[in-house]
Amino acid sequence: MADEKCNVVEFKVQGQICQGTLGESLLSALRRHGFEVPSLCFHEAVSSYGACRLCLVEVKKGRRSKLTTSCNYPVQEGLEVQLDTDEVVRHRRIVLQLLLAAAPAAKAVRDLAARYGIEETPFVPRPEEDCIQCGLCIRICEAVGVNALGFAGRGVSKHATTPYEETSAACVGCGACADVCPTGCVKVVDADGFRTIERWHLKVPLTLCKTCGRGFAPEVHLTRMAGQAKLEIAHLANCPKCRGRAFAAEFRLP
Ligand code: FES
Repeated sequence: MADEKCNVVEFKVQGQICQGTLGESLLSALRRHGFEVPSLCFHEAVSSYGACRLCLVEVKKGRRSKLTTSCNYPVQEGLEVQLDTDEVVRHRRIVLQLLLAAAPAAKAVRDLAARYGIEETPFVPRPEEDCIQCGLCIRICEAVGVNALGFAGRGVSKHATTPYEETSAACVGCGACADVCPTGCVKVVDADGFRTIERWHLKVPLTLCKTCGRGFAPEVHLTRMAGQAKLEIAHLANCPKCRGRAFAAEFRLP
């Protein structure tokens, strides 16, 4: 029975009774209960987009059952979920063949495909491509309030990029896009006093840590953070490592 007070719902996964919260995605609830479901485009920090199609499961409500992606399917009272049925695995294998053609250079895709015994694809591959166009970089950029990225092109030409494929004035080089990228195709390089994100045509100067002298974050990013937190920029003059050391020193026993 659904608990009205705390919005808890009960559902079954392969016969096992599980609990979820109203509004929670089925994938989150499954993982919380220790079930393994593959995914590439899901991240708790942003809304689900259902791009990679790997998180397929079979759900049954009443007498009707269907295959669905679990990342954008809400948990519901009385739902019955099956994970790796023949039908789920058959569809997931086709999805993996498509992903292998879309991004053959992505190790995460190749590894996942290998787990399902797939090493070749019947679809036309795009050699050298390592992006699966899941849009996670775009969604996290939106979530941090920067909005420097979007999709351009259509069909097989669709790709995540900056407006007009040029350096975006909005991009602060925070690197959140690289942190969440499931294939590692967004690369952040800090060298010679600059942060470079080649995929977004970005090269911005790094601020040097006041204590150790190491370049640690783009100046534009620190200025934005200081503005948002209503802090003097001087409070962000040290790199996280030196800040941690200074903090620990304050609490050191005499
Ligand atoms: S994680 Fe659900 S579609 Fe990618």
